[in-house]
Amino acid sequence: MEFLNQNTPIHLVNGVNIPCIGYGTWQTPAGEVAAASVRAALEAGYRHIDAASAYGNEEGVGEGIQTSGVRRDEIFLTSKLNNPDHGYEQTKRAFAESLKALKTDYLDLYLIHWPNPISCRNNWEEMNAATWKAMEELYESGQIKAIGVSNFRQHHFEALAKTANVAPMVNQISLSPGLTQTSICSYCQEHGMVMEAYSPLGTGRILQLEEMRYFAEKYNHSIAQICIRWSLQMGFIPLPKSINASRIRENINVFDFKLSDEDVSTIASIQAGSVARDPDTINF
Ligand code: A2P
Repeated sequence: MEFLNQNTPIHLVNGVNIPCIGYGTWQTPAGEVAAASVRAALEAGYRHIDAASAYGNEEGVGEGIQTSGVRRDEIFLTSKLNNPDHGYEQTKRAFAESLKALKTDYLDLYLIHWPNPISCRNNWEEMNAATWKAMEELYESGQIKAIGVSNFRQHHFEALAKTANVAPMVNQISLSPGLTQTSICSYCQEHGMVMEAYSPLGTGRILQLEEMRYFAEKYNHSIAQICIRWSLQMGFIPLPKSINASRIRENINVFDFKLSDEDVSTIASIQAGSVARDPDTINF
């Protein structure tokens, strides 16, 4: 696929378009830092913001959007259902709270953040079924333009499929050089889902890898830019996080070069030491 800029659309299965790079907000401090960095991202040209209730900074993200001067309908805004909020009624309530914090009246994408929170380890299947029913209703009513999940593995999808009327459109997982999660990506793509990559820089760790320096020099771009470009060419939507205006700009300056297919596969198999958290044993 040809990528022209950070807002080149990727098509979801229901026809909704999602810009090919999103601005990540995990680990962004709440309040003014979140607001200022979201403003910086919008000023830099990002039109896709990835938020979550669990990040504790939705108020700041909403403030940043509201004070950016960019119209809400020009922005693709995602949020996620927090772990303690699984269940039908709780989902409706948590969704309304996220809307309020984000100062908006709809979301472009809403995701179940984790399939198996510690609070429902014994009945996660039923809880996901009830949660998904609420999300389907919010989707049908137009308050959410697309619905999906995060950190799901195949057995979580198979359980959800028993009761779902609308199939998840997105799975957002940890994807970065050396962490390609190939079997779950293939499963999702075969089932019509788009993959989103959180921590596309390996939360910054990959930037220290000597092997990545070789590619940075070869393509005359930073290691962060190599990671983000690699993610796009792998077919993922990268969601790089930064609170620094110049790094925010750097991370979308990835459209004036292309990695060779051979380098894409070498980068995929780099030993970065990253592992995805097991969604069935997380302690939150
Ligand atoms: P900062 O917010 O100070 O820029 P990930 O997106 O994989 O979670 O990685 C985020 C981490 O990488 C943060 O620590 C962020 O720090 C840092 N980071 C983001 N972009 C860059 C960049 N272009 N160069 C160096 N570090 C970066």
